[in-house]
Amino acid sequence: MTARPYVLINVAATVDGKIDTFERRGAAISSERDRERVDRLRASVDAVMVGGRTLLQEDPRLTVRSPELRAERLARGEPENPAKVGVISRLDLQPARDGVASRVALPPDCRFLTAGPARIILFTLHGSEAAWPGERAVEIYTSGSSHVDVAWALAKLLELGIRRVLVEGGGTLNFELLHLGLVDEIQVFIAPLIFGGTAAPTLADGPGLPRHLALNLQCLEVDPWPDGGVLLRYIVEKTSG
Ligand SMILES: NC(=O)c1ccc[n+]([C@@H]2O[C@H](COP(=O)([O-])OP(=O)(O)OC[C@H]3O[C@@H](n4cnc5c(N)ncnc54)[C@H](OP(=O)(O)O)[C@@H]3O)[C@@H](O)[C@H]2O)c1
Repeated sequence: MTARPYVLINVAATVDGKIDTFERRGAAISSERDRERVDRLRASVDAVMVGGRTLLQEDPRLTVRSPELRAERLARGEPENPAKVGVISRLDLQPARDGVASRVALPPDCRFLTAGPARIILFTLHGSEAAWPGERAVEIYTSGSSHVDVAWALAKLLELGIRRVLVEGGGTLNFELLHLGLVDEIQVFIAPLIFGGTAAPTLADGPGLPRHLALNLQCLEVDPWPDGGVLLRYIVEKTSG
């Protein structure tokens, strides 16, 4: 098995397991207490990773909100924020000037690129740092043929000194990492909400698994909160294959 960082998936989900509504506009699910928990999680890792659609649709900052937590990171000799890692297949860093419709332009002013300071790492199928028009340094790695090779990406992150990765969705990236056996821990905040909708994303989407290949989890914590939410923490059991 190739060496890789410790990988922790965190999501906020509704009681019916949805991590957004069918509208896919990054619906608010977390409570304020949960946002503080996620901030502490971010402050505890070396990198935060997101999939391409989360990156483009939610325009996340992925930085640590609390000045105290950022100061504690600096005092430990760590960068103020964890590295931000994007996994996006057809990335075009030159916003759609060449008319290549199959590529997605990452806006130079998106918060993934501008909120910081933070190291920015992109895994994609095409692209190079030389093509990047913005002011902020972006490290770009290409690997894979139809999708980014996420096992290779994690091995690369370890090589870059990243030992703990927090994956913050979405459902497609989560599933890919889970079914490849690349996840160690899952934390889920279950909010007292129902979104419904077959098109609404869930913790793990992708093509899915037949019952005999289902992943087994070991429950570490069930913590009901006064805000009506429940925090669940699981370890992903290793399969022998
Ligand atoms: N509640 C929460 O905690 C939470 C957190 C994050 C996101 N979300 C929600 O989740 C939704 C987005 O999830 P999503 O499933 O649509 O997208 P996603 O997982 O964020 O991103 C998937 C994208 O990553 C690219 N990719 C490249 N290589 C990949 C690989 N090996 N495996 C997986 N993906 C790869 C895919 O590009 P190609 O298809 O072009 O190959 C695809 O566009 C949004 O509605 C967002 O609001 C919720």
